[in-house]
Amino acid sequence: MFLPVKKAGRIEKLPPYLFAEIDKKIREALEKGVDVIKLGIGDPDRPTPEYIIQRMQEEVTLPRNHSYPPDEGLAEFREAVSRYYQRRFGVELDPQKEVLPLIGSKEGIAHISACFVNPGDVNLVPDPGYPVYSIGTLFAGGEAHRMPLLEENSFLPDFSGIPEEMARRSRLMFLNYPNNPTGAVAEKDFFEEAVEYAKKHDIVICHDSAYLEIAFDGYRPVSFLEVSGARDCGIEFGSLSKPFNMTGWRVGYAVGSAEVLEALYRYKTNIDSGNFKAVQYAGVEALDNPKSREHIERMQQVYQERRDVVIEALKEAGCRVSAPKASFYVWAPVPYGYTSKDFVSYLLEKTGVVVTPGSGFGVYGDGYFRIALTVEVDRLKEAMDRIKGAVRF
Ligand code: MLT
Repeated sequence: MFLPVKKAGRIEKLPPYLFAEIDKKIREALEKGVDVIKLGIGDPDRPTPEYIIQRMQEEVTLPRNHSYPPDEGLAEFREAVSRYYQRRFGVELDPQKEVLPLIGSKEGIAHISACFVNPGDVNLVPDPGYPVYSIGTLFAGGEAHRMPLLEENSFLPDFSGIPEEMARRSRLMFLNYPNNPTGAVAEKDFFEEAVEYAKKHDIVICHDSAYLEIAFDGYRPVSFLEVSGARDCGIEFGSLSKPFNMTGWRVGYAVGSAEVLEALYRYKTNIDSGNFKAVQYAGVEALDNPKSREHIERMQQVYQERRDVVIEALKEAGCRVSAPKASFYVWAPVPYGYTSKDFVSYLLEKTGVVVTPGSGFGVYGDGYFRIALTVEVDRLKEAMDRIKGAVRF
């Protein structure tokens, strides 16, 4: 095919999206008739709760919801987010200035760099980490400085390891706890250290809290905004996708520093027109309805049972793995002698089970693979039996 226009450098440099690549491999295997079990992308398999769907059904019929939403999002949605923060974390937010609705948190994460990064600036990104942190940085003309998340540091970055020159050039620092892909958690003292570091170096912290409601054994993850001084130097991205099984609805938010949110608002309003109002009202239902607590606790039990199945099977296969306290991922080392990519290809070929290669999340992810706990227990047991039959760690 003749393409008359040369593509921009940023597209030439852009690697294919990790999960789009994995999807391609799944399609190829399915075409060959393989009985594929997908433990790749973290996409909740259970449906959105009925009461949220019902609210959506009501709202979608109302003509008042068919026009453009307000640029700053519906006041009702912003107020529901602020009520949720008060109830859940004891954090007071001004719904006018400290809450901004997003078309899924991925949208805000991808765009925030454009608001703060000039060509030549640096963003500090966790490695392994969600690929969008560094892709947004690249699109803004910035450079990603990778903060290694090492097992010996409980998968927390070591700020003392960041070279002074990098800290000086840094504009944003991305953090994400409960962590994707490692399942690690961070406590208040870690966030306090991050705030101190950010203030010292004039860096904006962008904390991705997508997995804040998915935790096990009674553990309650910490919101970044619970820490004193956090909202002076950063924001927290939140998502309705994972807690409410709403990945396809595209609804999330950013909360925290009014100044940072104003920049993101200004950027966004120039390039998108917000979330469908009916979706925002469904979001209000998710955040406000008392049934949501019950739903979240039920999902925590579901993922915990699945986690236990996976951990037990991996241990039986000789894998040195620890049970995560939160997130719906199990992060485990590949068998000796394999790279992440080789191991994942081997698994798919021998067992039809799809997992994510650790190297897809960065160089420090090599040597690991990730299992998403997003299939029912029977199918998960089947996947783990196949893995045990094919692999000795
Ligand atoms: C993942 O599997 O890492 C996530 O589902 C990706 C996402 O949330 O966009």
